[in-house]
Amino acid sequence: MKTKILVTGGAGYIGSHTTVELQNAGYEVVIVDNLSNSNAEVIDGIERITGIRPVFEKLDCNDMEGMKAMFERNKGIKGIIHFAASKAVGESVQKPLLYYRNNIVSLLNIMDLMPQYGVEALVFSSSCTVYGQPDILPVDENAPIKPALSPYGNTKQINEEIIRDAIYAGAPYKSIVLRYFNPIGAHATAEIGELPIGVPQNLIPFVTQTAIGVREQLSVFGDDYDTPDGSCIRDYISVVDLAKAHVVSLDRMLTGKSKANLETFNVGTGRGLSVLELINAFEKTTGVKLNYKIVGRREGDIEKVWANPDYANNELGWTAKETIEDTLASAWKWQLKLRERGIM
Ligand code: NAD
Ligand code: WQD
Repeated sequence: MKTKILVTGGAGYIGSHTTVELQNAGYEVVIVDNLSNSNAEVIDGIERITGIRPVFEKLDCNDMEGMKAMFERNKGIKGIIHFAASKAVGESVQKPLLYYRNNIVSLLNIMDLMPQYGVEALVFSSSCTVYGQPDILPVDENAPIKPALSPYGNTKQINEEIIRDAIYAGAPYKSIVLRYFNPIGAHATAEIGELPIGVPQNLIPFVTQTAIGVREQLSVFGDDYDTPDGSCIRDYISVVDLAKAHVVSLDRMLTGKSKANLETFNVGTGRGLSVLELINAFEKTTGVKLNYKIVGRREGDIEKVWANPDYANNELGWTAKETIEDTLASAWKWQLKLRERGIM
């Protein structure tokens, strides 16, 4: 019998790619998603890739009674990957209560229900945003947590603390916190990918939408940073590589290989790329010239951050494998597919 995993937010960008990798690894997946930032057609895309349709429950994780009923309908869930959250940094500044409620109550509900339904393992989606601007680069997991720059970032810090406190208090399950760097790209089949609603805030969707002509021009936010070419540096990781990190994390907990009941890993490539280097790589890979201009800095941007992924590489036995060219090519293929389908 296949091991059953609950993926909250499984219709979203990272959740859908992770569902594919879980199914490929032999897990059975139940998705809970309220579709607040995604579309039920994503489930069809997952099925087209793997040939398996995950169970889909349209449900809000904040709805405790609904979540209980979901566990009753789907008996035997052994692990949970908790992606469901609101994630727009700017919006979180405008609507802090929405972010605190959505991102914190949903985790509390899940953690309350886990012991009742015998769930043994929890993977939580955290972010390199918890490090702020690190003093030492590449940044490792022991770096200090810096004051959050937004309510969104604060919810990640609070969620990490909630998990830590519950585990230290003897919660009867294990947890792995994954701190993602900057996930980009799409599945190689272009059946699933990132679908931002409205004007994209993140770099890669803005790049691909500019390249295809939906946006007129990309603004590069600042070229006067203390970096070799003056633009900001990030660690861009393929969403498929990131998805695979979740599968090994679950394997580790469910097969008793965890070294502690709570473990935290950076999930990045270890390679920092500037905005201008990324634009250059995109143009080279796709052959499409990008219309961009340098503008002023964006408020709240971190100057430079990239991961030290040694701990994940050595302990989890996971390494980011895709080249940046392949990842950018997958993002472009996905954008072309959206055009073909008349979506964008
Ligand atoms: P996403 O918005 O594409 O996916 C999140 C999914 O959760 C969406 O499908 C949304 O409809 C659903 N959702 C939100 N609130 C819900 C609720 N209360 N109940 C049920 N479903 C709900 O975002 P993503 O990029 O796939 O991010 C997934 C997780 O990873 C989030 O927790 C996010 O904070 C975290 N993360 C993302 C990034 C990134 O750059 N994408 C980086 C670091 C961490
Ligand atoms: C990357 C780089 C911009 C858009 C954010 C959140 C973080 C997170 C991931 C969740 C930066 C530059 C961008 C544009 C640009 N995830 N840029 N022009 O800022 O690293 O992280 O998303 O946890 O919490 O803060 O990602 O994609 O927005 O920006 O020049 O139109 O691209 O200045 O240097 P960021 P991003």
